Amino acid sequence: MTITIIYISLSGNTESFVKRLSSYLKTWHQIDTKLINIKELDHTTFPVTEPFVAMLPTYLEGGNGVDNGDVEILTTPLGDFIAAHDNYKSCYGIVGSGNRNFNHQFCLTAKQYAKRFGFPVLDEFELRGTSSDIERIAGKIIAAQEAFDVD
Ligand SMILES: Cc1cc2nc3c(=O)[nH]c(=O)nc-3n(C[C@H](O)[C@H](O)[C@H](O)COP(=O)(O)O)c2cc1C
Repeated sequence: MTITIIYISLSGNTESFVKRLSSYLKTWHQIDTKLINIKELDHTTFPVTEPFVAMLPTYLEGGNGVDNGDVEILTTPLGDFIAAHDNYKSCYGIVGSGNRNFNHQFCLTAKQYAKRFGFPVLDEFELRGTSSDIERIAGKIIAAQEAFDVD
């Protein structure tokens, strides 16, 4: 089994999580990962036909996540990539990340993408994530990919 992870990371937290997750999957589940960092693509897109999971930190300007507007900044290239070539059809779920100091806006963009594209939020973690986040999220990704492959 190979797991494709498509992510964006601006300050390195999500990147750190993805790399630790990748080593965990290899060591404990003998699963290889293919990592695509959207930041390195410089706005280019290409079709992804194999199943993938997306990982998305939250960067919002303004708003409180409850009753007034919020604007996604910096992470929009991931949304554009998922929308391009109908790539969203190969995405079986998204994992959000953020900082709990943002209260109701914690991981809000992942929830917005789930609604926009019709895939589920598989889980969430804060900042670089803990080893228990890695263990739990690895389990959820494996289960979601297996279920998606059967469909
Ligand atoms: C300008 C800015 C806005 C942010 N807005 C949110 C937010 O609305 N909700 C949230 O959960 N985290 C928010 N964060 C925290 C980031 O999502 C968090 O630091 C994340 O780990 C960054 O991931 P990265 O290092 O992979 O880019 C914000 C951070 C910055 C710098």
